[in-house]
Amino acid sequence: RPADGGSAARPAGASTLLTGISELWTLDPALDDPARPGEVTGDQVLRDAALVIEDGRIAWTGPASEAPPADAAEDLGGRAVLPGWVDSHSHLVFDGDRAAEFEARMAGQSYSAGGIGVTTDATRSASDERLRTLVRGRIAEAVAGGTTCLETKTGYGLTIADELRAAELASSLVTAGELDEATFLGAHLVLGEYDGRDGRPGAEEYVELVSGEMLAAVAPHVRWIDVFCEEGAFDPAQSARVLRAGAAAGLGLRVHGNQLGRSGGVALAAELGAASVDHVNHLGPADVDALAATASRPTAPGDGPGRLAVGAGPTVATALPACDLSTRAPLAPARQLLDAGAMLAIASNCNPGTSYTSAMTFCVTTAVLQMHLSLAEALRAATRGGALALRRTDVGHLGVGARADLHVLDAPAAIHLAYRPGMPLTHRVWRHGIPQA
Ligand code: NIG
Repeated sequence: RPADGGSAARPAGASTLLTGISELWTLDPALDDPARPGEVTGDQVLRDAALVIEDGRIAWTGPASEAPPADAAEDLGGRAVLPGWVDSHSHLVFDGDRAAEFEARMAGQSYSAGGIGVTTDATRSASDERLRTLVRGRIAEAVAGGTTCLETKTGYGLTIADELRAAELASSLVTAGELDEATFLGAHLVLGEYDGRDGRPGAEEYVELVSGEMLAAVAPHVRWIDVFCEEGAFDPAQSARVLRAGAAAGLGLRVHGNQLGRSGGVALAAELGAASVDHVNHLGPADVDALAATASRPTAPGDGPGRLAVGAGPTVATALPACDLSTRAPLAPARQLLDAGAMLAIASNCNPGTSYTSAMTFCVTTAVLQMHLSLAEALRAATRGGALALRRTDVGHLGVGARADLHVLDAPAAIHLAYRPGMPLTHRVWRHGIPQA
């Protein structure tokens, strides 16, 4: 602990020097090699290093022998320090669990998106206060595991009032600094109440609602719009309608694509310039090529510090290893995507149906052990990759000026994340320069 009782208590402007860092993964974008975009270069990882935090930001990094003086100091005892995980895909606004569905799946049933309706029922029934408490508890779990930047989605409301409620909750937590990004996922599933029978509206009317009145209500509270482009959810034409309406409302685009089959979601995401397409389990060569071809698309400045424009830049392929395991799906071909030159992120997809975990460390370990990524590739995908998928430059690295979001490992080197799978290796977490409990 800091000698003076904690950085949070110190006045603005006070600085903290952290020493005893055996390995410091700065992943500083200023040190990227333009000839090898997406790769970690040697000088982005320092040995025997030190770091200074000031005003919630990284003020200095370098060799311990050259560390400047600071108002307070703490020795981390020879541990590795990484940027906090950037989890660019989660669905935290829900009530209820689906353990029985999961158990049936482990007994041989396949995943069907129908469970979204079960969670939607439970979520609609929850009070505002209960929903807020549940979401905050899930954020705390994520942070305790080293996650310091977190996106979350609506998508278990699926009426104007319920989607608005979820968006307002997420947005209030973004304003409070507890969450970082909020996404509208009204196009999660066409529920049975839109079956077109006995005078009830049908799927086309639901698409109309999502891209019209529901979007108009929710858009002021979110930065992103997402769609589940999959057989049984929204086909590419319906997905395109929703996404185009979202773009016209000023939102950035995200897509759940090619999770259960070759849905056309990846091609659509690349065509429309989505910031991210997530799941990517079932890819043909044209899908891989389409994603790789977006890698050279330039990003553009955004409308605030640390933000890039939502509508420019690569379409990041986001692998969700915990979801792949929990649904016994073919693992996303992350190795193939990187080899082809696509931009890659790794996220948790925490949700009650397909991935009831926010453990990013587990995802990174799985990416190394099962997806054949190097540790550096997996680590970068779970930090810088997520930041690019969220069009952010202030997180995912520890270059000077970045948010002081640190993940201190109880290990001398980050390779222990894969070498010691499942061990509790998170020692300390700083978020916005503040040590977390
Ligand atoms: O990302 N695929 C769509 N949405 C979630 C699962 C939702 C659910 O089954 O509750 C996902 O896996």
